[in-house]
Amino acid sequence: MSDILQRLAAHRLVPVVVIDDAAHADALAQALVDGGLPVAEVTFRTAAAAEAIRVIAARGDVLVGAGTVLTPQQVDQAVAAGASYVVSPGLSRAVVERCQEHGVLALPGAVTATEVQAALELGLTTVKFFPAGTSGGAKAVAALAAPFGDVGFVPTGGIGPGNLAEYLALPSVRAVGGSWMVPRDLIRGGDLDAVRDLTAEAVSLVAH
Ligand code: 3PG
Repeated sequence: MSDILQRLAAHRLVPVVVIDDAAHADALAQALVDGGLPVAEVTFRTAAAAEAIRVIAARGDVLVGAGTVLTPQQVDQAVAAGASYVVSPGLSRAVVERCQEHGVLALPGAVTATEVQAALELGLTTVKFFPAGTSGGAKAVAALAAPFGDVGFVPTGGIGPGNLAEYLALPSVRAVGGSWMVPRDLIRGGDLDAVRDLTAEAVSLVAH
């Protein structure tokens, strides 16, 4: 397992962030640190993503990656900004190969046996299981893990405090992603105390 993957697996949670203004990035990072979860997947769904990654990476205390990466060009932007892992909703050979050229961890989405095999052929050992909730949930992850005993999964999509434990109980689940502890509206509104509290609550659920 790569060093970055080991660190993600140690935290067990990956907050999926949509940030509208890079000016909020430092306060968001501080809220995550204060909540006990120094991890952020900053999604390329807004124009602020690359700058937000740059701000968070420069702090040096948060394991920051890029999410919703759809093109090799976005991989280049993410890596230049300091992302140490690259997450995609689906499996793109071009994106994975660009990550490999940069030597950065790629976590592409895969929810079928065919997609998992394609990821293995690209030399990957861990995939994002997305969208988890509508792709069969924890039962589907467990079923996929049977033939792919060495593959790790990072289920994301439709996960929250109510069903987090189902996923974390599976030996093949390295970490779980989600946005429930970093609601976009709270970040936009500057309510980072609430983000910190939601994050701390999520961390406490992992500990139990
Ligand atoms: C993602 O891109 O990983 C998802 O949007 C996160 O899913 P969630 O908002 O249901 O947690």
